[in-house]
Amino acid sequence: MRKTVIAGNWKMFKDLKESEELLQGVKAQAASAPSSVTVVVCPPFTSLSLAGSLLKGSPVKLGAQNMSEHDEGAFTGEISWKMLKSTGCEYVILGHSERRQYYGETDAKINLKAKKALANGLLPIICVGETLKEREGGITEQIVTTQIKGVLDGISAPDMERVTIAYEPVWAIGTGKNATPAQAQEVHAQIRGLISKLFSKSLADKVVIQYGGSVKPDNAAELLAQTDIDGALVGGACLKADSFAGIFKSAKKK
Ligand code: 13P
Repeated sequence: MRKTVIAGNWKMFKDLKESEELLQGVKAQAASAPSSVTVVVCPPFTSLSLAGSLLKGSPVKLGAQNMSEHDEGAFTGEISWKMLKSTGCEYVILGHSERRQYYGETDAKINLKAKKALANGLLPIICVGETLKEREGGITEQIVTTQIKGVLDGISAPDMERVTIAYEPVWAIGTGKNATPAQAQEVHAQIRGLISKLFSKSLADKVVIQYGGSVKPDNAAELLAQTDIDGALVGGACLKADSFAGIFKSAKKK
């Protein structure tokens, strides 16, 4: 049985004071989250250290939004796995569509980052998803297949067990227009089928596949009830403790 992982991607929101307030709120609400749910918060880099201290001893896990593929060196503006781990991070989001779209991240680069994270004990949440044009062109499965093969290239089966995939259709991000539960389930099943082909069925059955894109308290239950939807990667609705809690509390045990 797969656990449900609900992660909040804060994106470029919340200074230190605002972060503290949100973290305290999430921490208080997470005490009543269903036991089958893992709650993860991914604040901006500047709030990670604070978050690590505030969340110590709480069930809420800490994640980052990006990471360098290098260990260290002259890479101005970059953040390494070691820096993330020193703040208490366990997870790291990699290859978010905003990183692909605005910062030119490719599947090959995301693959290097994923391998670096896995080699150093961080749990990658790797994002894939099609644009509206690609969906309308009927090539969603083709696009997602290429992305998955690229980002997972050379990753071993034992490492794959520690990977989370986030299916985030680009057209559903920040638009208020979520994929319908059936649309999301269809792609999640394709992704699981592909992982089964690339690795094995027993491994594919263990991999957590999150849906992301306009997840809100009022649509979360129906999305999370789908067979192959094992969690959510939440943007806008994770910026308030009440709405984020509304999502993680709506996850029913499957
Ligand atoms: P929204 O929930 O704001 O659509 O963002 C989704 C997302 O990009 C999470 O990574």
